[in-house]
Amino acid sequence: MKILHISAECYPAAKAGGLGDVAGALPKYLNKTGLDTAVIIPRYHTKWLNQQTYQQVFFGEFYMGQERIYFSIHRVENDPTGFPLYVADIPGKFDRPGVYADEHGHAYEDELSRAISFQLATLYWIRSLENRPEVLHCHDHHTGLIPFLVRHAYDFASLKSTPTIFTIHNGEYHGAFPWNKLYLLPAFDSTAGGLLDWDNMIVPLASAIKCCWKLTTVSPGYMEELKNKSNGLEGLLKSEQGKSIGILNGIDTNVWDPRKDNFIAEKLSRSFKKYKTTNRQALYDRFNINEDLPIVVFIGRLVREKGAELLPEAISRFIYDEHKLGFIILGTGDPNLHQIFNNMRNHFPGRFDAALEYNEGLAHQLYAGADFLMMPSLVEPCGLNQMYAMRYGTVPIVRAVGGLRDTVPDIGKDDGAGICFDYYSVDEIHHALIRAESLANETKTLMNLQKRNTKVDFSWEQSAKAYGAIYQEVMGNNE
Ligand code: GLC
Repeated sequence: MKILHISAECYPAAKAGGLGDVAGALPKYLNKTGLDTAVIIPRYHTKWLNQQTYQQVFFGEFYMGQERIYFSIHRVENDPTGFPLYVADIPGKFDRPGVYADEHGHAYEDELSRAISFQLATLYWIRSLENRPEVLHCHDHHTGLIPFLVRHAYDFASLKSTPTIFTIHNGEYHGAFPWNKLYLLPAFDSTAGGLLDWDNMIVPLASAIKCCWKLTTVSPGYMEELKNKSNGLEGLLKSEQGKSIGILNGIDTNVWDPRKDNFIAEKLSRSFKKYKTTNRQALYDRFNINEDLPIVVFIGRLVREKGAELLPEAISRFIYDEHKLGFIILGTGDPNLHQIFNNMRNHFPGRFDAALEYNEGLAHQLYAGADFLMMPSLVEPCGLNQMYAMRYGTVPIVRAVGGLRDTVPDIGKDDGAGICFDYYSVDEIHHALIRAESLANETKTLMNLQKRNTKVDFSWEQSAKAYGAIYQEVMGNNE
């Protein structure tokens, strides 16, 4: 069965967050189950994409409003990702290094025309194929108009019966735009226009939820949460629950393998102690953290959803109270937070340090060398970092929300793996850090827990099977 994933990100070609990891890993595991899966993303000017060689497979043009768009579709040669990866080259829209934002963290202002042009280019290409994908699997709002367009746009009438699956990785972003931008879309059966609408706006996320054949989210817990809290989409998600399912993400255990990881100073072999101590030392060597302090890291986008806004106060308070943990932050995001963290580096030498950049290799080193990983997320649809951390023998400190609740039992329980807290507040983080500090005082208990965490199975096999079952189901309905 031929499946095409349509996504704004795909690791290692272009990644801003977990969506990239999933789109770069899931297809490999689907293909192991006998499916024939490919991925298409925009042709950004990322370093990785600039280094590849390509085979052009299609050239096309269309109008987006008054704007004539010329585009070409290319296949990356030799399948370096392990599955066929296609890119939509749309000059003027994606020939920039960032996925969503420039190097200063400012989101590109033409997001809407970028998203629409990518979706249309993809559909015009698919329409031209003799051997078409049998299922279109779309991810997040950037591809949210596709389930509607294949059903109701005249240009894509030949794709009308192609099943669409839509996965919500991040329900915070709806991609909403006003109806006066309707001219950007190709003509469609106007009686279906209501399927684009939510609260008098065109809302790609809402439209996808209405029009897709099957709706998935990246953890079962998050699916339930969305029904009660999704910035206005609650009723819609409840009414569509019959076609909805939460499937927990896995992690790519080949990319994330402490036994084989070339990024880290010491690979995991027989002695866990040697592995952890050497990698921790590598962090002391690189960052300004006192060598007697256990290390807590935060890795990720510096945005509100990830709880990044609470970190300055939570960390400062902890340090002022003379508690004994060192903190390292890796990530980019809100320019204000960049400034605050830079000030904190000067203010708390030996206690706090930060690398305000996107650095995949350094992320691996932090998972390997840290004692704790902090994820105080406001929302966390699945979260992959807690799984990477555990596989690298690090204890997650998480707010019990969405996928974090599904994957990290508190150390108070028998199968405990991390430290959990319930409320999104500085006080709760403070308390969780105090628990971490006392755990760190019991060196042996901490190390046993870290070691046990490396054994938890987060592989993709189960989830790939669950997606396979969905594809079967929609294909069955199609016959
Ligand atoms: C988004 C979510 C994250 C999830 C990832 C992959 O980045 O915020 O929780 O793990 O997508 O599905």
